[in-house]
Amino acid sequence: MNQSTSAFSTIPLFCLLFLVTFGNSQLDYRFYDSACPNLSKIVRYGVWSAIANETRLAASILRLHFHDCFVNGCEGSILLDDSSNFKGEKNANPNRNSARGFEVIDAIKENVEKACPSTVSCTDILTLAARDAVFLSGGPFWPVSLGRRDGLTANETAANTDLPSPFEPLENITAKFISKGLDAKDMVVLSGGHTIGFAQCFTFKRRLFNFDGAGNPDPTLDASLLGSLRSICPNQDDSDTNLAPLDAATTTKFDNSYFKILVNSSGLLQSDQALMGDNKTAALVFGYSKFPFLFTKDFASSMVKMSNIGILTGQNGQIRKNCRVVN
Ligand code: HEM
Ligand SMILES: *[C@@H]1O[C@H](CO)[C@@H](O)[C@H](O)[C@H]1NC(C)=O
Ligand SMILES: *[C@@H]1O[C@H](CO)[C@@H](O)[C@H](O)[C@H]1NC(C)=O
Ligand SMILES: *[C@@H]1O[C@H](CO)[C@@H](O)[C@H](O)[C@H]1NC(C)=O
Ligand SMILES: *[C@@H]1O[C@H](CO)[C@@H](O)[C@H](O)[C@H]1NC(C)=O
Ligand SMILES: *[C@@H]1O[C@H](CO)[C@@H](O)[C@H](O)[C@H]1NC(C)=O
Ligand SMILES: *[C@@H]1O[C@H](CO)[C@@H](O)[C@H](O)[C@H]1NC(C)=O
Repeated sequence: MNQSTSAFSTIPLFCLLFLVTFGNSQLDYRFYDSACPNLSKIVRYGVWSAIANETRLAASILRLHFHDCFVNGCEGSILLDDSSNFKGEKNANPNRNSARGFEVIDAIKENVEKACPSTVSCTDILTLAARDAVFLSGGPFWPVSLGRRDGLTANETAANTDLPSPFEPLENITAKFISKGLDAKDMVVLSGGHTIGFAQCFTFKRRLFNFDGAGNPDPTLDASLLGSLRSICPNQDDSDTNLAPLDAATTTKFDNSYFKILVNSSGLLQSDQALMGDNKTAALVFGYSKFPFLFTKDFASSMVKMSNIGILTGQNGQIRKNCRVVN
């Protein structure tokens, strides 16, 4: 009797330890509970109203968070405009005429400042907004631990070198994830973010017309998808900014369809379809294509890992008043 009671009393402790190792000890789920009790509602409403007007903004916000975290860590540097002290990241190759959703974060920040001035970082707002964007698109929910502070600078060069490009080989992309403390599995499951949103024709056009330099398309691209992509992206420069869905089957729904699409050779970017060209990553793709629950569970835990890259806490950094400029 005594023995079983003590066995039970160890369960909560065990769960607590699990939470601590799973999260980040410098952050706290209740960080703003007393200083900004309505924070999560304000963020949720801001994301909800943006998506209600334009569905694609869910994808755009998720990508902003990824592009923030991969460049000097999650510290809101992507949100900064160019200044006299530095060139911002908004004009770096992966972001120029591509990163979007800044107005959504500005509008949320304005409402947060009204409720609790100079209290909540832009970085925490973006982290929460990315989680809400996934959840409101039908994806998983996960608790976000808070207390990240905003960085004092931005680095255009780092945005050019550290963010993955759709034109580079899988090994290079994997190396970029590993250099951020993530692994190949995080890379595969987080690529599932491409279950929502769009890409411009220039990011995959080479696959349609002249993949091999002899006028042939990419042999790993499904023939009927090839036809429809050629009509969206005719072989002329003025089609470069036309948009095609990353997941043509269920473009606005956050589900595991991205992985099903890779299995049947219908990935949009060369870097997407490349996940099927390696036995280890292909095994993960197959798993996520068959087991939606496995995808949502692993996606949530890799998002938590990503949102803890290179964070500033305590006295480091600052709480920006305006996400576009350092105080
Ligand atoms: C693995 C390496 C990755 C590469 C090479 C890559 C590349 C790209 C490219 C080229 C686009 C289209 C941009 C444009 O045409 O303007 C895009 C869009 C997008 N990416 Fe990625 N990406 C990667 C990983 C990720 C990750 C980890 C996430 C989030 C977890 C993500 C989320 C998105 C979303 C949601 C969009 C659509 C954005 C919109 O419609 O506004 N991507 N990505
Ligand atoms: C939180 O929002 C509610 C309405 O949704 C409002 O009545 C309350 O005053 C707000 N609390 C704070 C601290 O801003
Ligand atoms: C709704 O979205 C359109 C573009 O799709 C934009 O021009 C307009 O300002 C947005 N309205 C609101 C209220 O956000
Ligand atoms: C910006 O990033 C590049 C590439 O990571 C690095 O070499 C450089 O030192 C950084 N610049 C500053 C001012 O931190
Ligand atoms: C891939 O990485 C290797 C080694 O860092 C580099 O030499 C090569 O240029 C990269 N390839 C592309 C297409 O970026
Ligand atoms: C590939 O899979 C998607 C999602 O299941 C489906 O919509 C699409 O029609 C499939 N394409 C082919 C060529 O089987
Ligand atoms: C990958 O799988 C294929 C077929 O399943 C096999 O022929 C090949 O040897 C495998 N490659 C590696 C590097 O394991």
